[in-house]
Amino acid sequence: MVEANQNVVRTAGLTKIFRDFWLREKVTAVADLSLEIRPREVFGLLGPNGSGKSTTLKMILGLLFPTRGVISVFDKPPTHVRAKARIGFLPEESNLYAFLDARETLDFYGRLFHLPRKTRRHRIDMLLEMVGLGSVAYRRVGEYSKGMQRRIGLAQALINDPDLLILDEPTSGLDPLGTRQFKDLIRTLAQRGKTVILSSHLLADVEDVCDRVCILYGGRQRAEGDVNDLLARAHQTQITTDQLDEATIQAVRNLLAQHGRELLNVQAPRDRLESLFLRIVEEAQRQKLVTGGAVATGRVADFLTAGKGEGHEVIESLLAGREEPAPEPESAEAPAESKPKTDEQVLTRLVVGPDAEAPTPETPAEPPKPAQADHGVIDNLLSKDNDEGGPSA
Ligand SMILES: Nc1ncnc2c1ncn2[C@@H]1O[C@H](COP(=O)(O)OP(=O)(O)O)[C@@H](O)[C@H]1O
Ligand SMILES: [Mg+2]
Repeated sequence: MVEANQNVVRTAGLTKIFRDFWLREKVTAVADLSLEIRPREVFGLLGPNGSGKSTTLKMILGLLFPTRGVISVFDKPPTHVRAKARIGFLPEESNLYAFLDARETLDFYGRLFHLPRKTRRHRIDMLLEMVGLGSVAYRRVGEYSKGMQRRIGLAQALINDPDLLILDEPTSGLDPLGTRQFKDLIRTLAQRGKTVILSSHLLADVEDVCDRVCILYGGRQRAEGDVNDLLARAHQTQITTDQLDEATIQAVRNLLAQHGRELLNVQAPRDRLESLFLRIVEEAQRQKLVTGGAVATGRVADFLTAGKGEGHEVIESLLAGREEPAPEPESAEAPAESKPKTDEQVLTRLVVGPDAEAPTPETPAEPPKPAQADHGVIDNLLSKDNDEGGPSA
């Protein structure tokens, strides 16, 4: 578990210079970058193409060595196996094995983390449903569209239940609905205790989803801070009311004048095109109009927690020179991660563990609603759970 006051990632004076074949300096991709990324926050690297976002992420992942400067991930060098086991990564370009289907792809990555077969099967079911690929799970990923590849890439990044999720341009190639689902998912994962670092050149992505942002240009940090602070116009106040007639507007204008203020702007608020588009698509989905594309349910895989993933435990045991815990027999009476059948069972398991089936006093009196409302309830329960067990955030 990550301590609330411990930085998940820290870089100081981070610099990467790419050299050509003759070792002459070629490109300064990242220059003197100092970042501190805190637990449970969504941190955005925002910048135009070529500003050094992917290079920074690759250095945090230990895939590229810095020319100068230091990086720590969970207080360890990024190349440390214990740090790596706690990271999930969605690369900018997915390198998928074209002849594997979605299940085989996720199973392959699950094996890399030594997850037992039953755990893999359970997680793959949940992840495929979560990213909306349940109905195309047996199609070869080589035939997937760009957006579908992003979805399988996200599922792959989550298979080890990582504490730190690194997403390079997560929404590239997604349609507006997929983008909205990804953004909601990223927020939900952060509420569940994940730390997320994402890069994007899309302003709306960063504005909607990130707590803090670092704006890069030419490999250098140009601005950094809380997104709300950076965007707030602290010297102005906006009031929204029901529609007003001209006389009332004049009265408001007079009132403001009495206080030495001026009415600067009067207009009907406008919807964003995104909201209009999403309403239309959601209405079509309610009417069950047919689509050949991905369909996400909005439910988050329940194994994704703030705690340590199983890959982590395996690495811990290997490092300590112990044997990997043997997978449970397939015919166990009460499988630890068998698929819960109802929302109530999901909630019960999240609160009191896999063995209990009955609701506990902590279960809210109101029955949980499907989809959206479900998240809130689960997250509330999870945060209660965490507050009791681990250090508070
Ligand atoms: N392997 C490499 N060799 C040489 N130059 C590179 C390499 N990778 C990235 N660069 C250069 O570093 C700069 C930053 O690239 P990158 O980090 O991919 O930017 P971004 O992800 O922000 O679009 C670019 O000018 C790019 O051409
Ligand atoms: Mg990039």
